[in-house]
Amino acid sequence: MSTFDETEAIYVRELGIDDIAPVYHLGESLFTSDLYPYLYRTWDEWEVIGLYNTDPEYCLVAETDGELAGFILGTIITKASWTYGYILWLGVSPKYQRRGVADKLVDKVVARMIEDGARFMLVDTDPTNTSALKFFSRKGFGNTRQHIFLSMNLSKHEYYGRLIDYEHQKAERAGYKRCLRRATPTRPAIRARKADSVANEVILNPLANESSITEEQSPI
Ligand SMILES: CC(C)(COP(=O)(O)OP(=O)(O)OC[C@H]1O[C@@H](n2cnc3c(N)ncnc32)[C@H](O)[C@@H]1OP(=O)(O)O)[C@@H](O)C(=O)NCCC(=O)NCCS
Repeated sequence: MSTFDETEAIYVRELGIDDIAPVYHLGESLFTSDLYPYLYRTWDEWEVIGLYNTDPEYCLVAETDGELAGFILGTIITKASWTYGYILWLGVSPKYQRRGVADKLVDKVVARMIEDGARFMLVDTDPTNTSALKFFSRKGFGNTRQHIFLSMNLSKHEYYGRLIDYEHQKAERAGYKRCLRRATPTRPAIRARKADSVANEVILNPLANESSITEEQSPI
């Protein structure tokens, strides 16, 4: 057993702009599709950027020896007479796990939430995430309730599948029109939220002329 007091070496501070990418990548390495499919699906850079923007006081990082050891991202929900603190994301680098990093992060964020009126805490995770469940129950969380998630492959659905085909056709037409107009100077396209949403980029592009799509071509 180590005699080194590891908790001494953990430094918790607010997440800064330079932490956004490292926190995102640490989360990416923790919330993997094989372990926690739901966490994997919902974790993206916008979670970090968005919460840093809206709830910076509840976005904290832990450092050990100048290295990112973990992070916590939370928010406050106010409903009628109750104020809830909600821990949305918590992650600790495998290198620093079982050293009290999450413990410190949770204590600090809860203290801030209490200061801001929270009298109730919420957290959710995958039901198979035993380390997180053990961690949270040791911290005093209980009253566990299962929440069911349903999913659907839209391409395989009779009606929504047709909507997808329709969007593809629209995107193809818009792409064709863009090629025709490339010779003339154009306004810049509105950027889509995510770089990989090619279809959205085309839909948001002000050059896309939707009036060329006739009513018969629309599945609606
Ligand atoms: C869950 C997690 C945040 C815990 O972080 P941590 O810094 O290792 O936790 P701590 O060191 O503060 O643990 C405190 C206590 O929680 C419990 N605990 C933590 N990890 C555990 C594990 N893998 N197995 C069993 N108990 C565990 C223990 O009781 C532990 O006390 P102990 O070490 O004295 O036995 C970390 O394992 C993690 O990042 N997991 C992947 C991401 C994740 O699941 N996040 C939560 C949902 S968003």
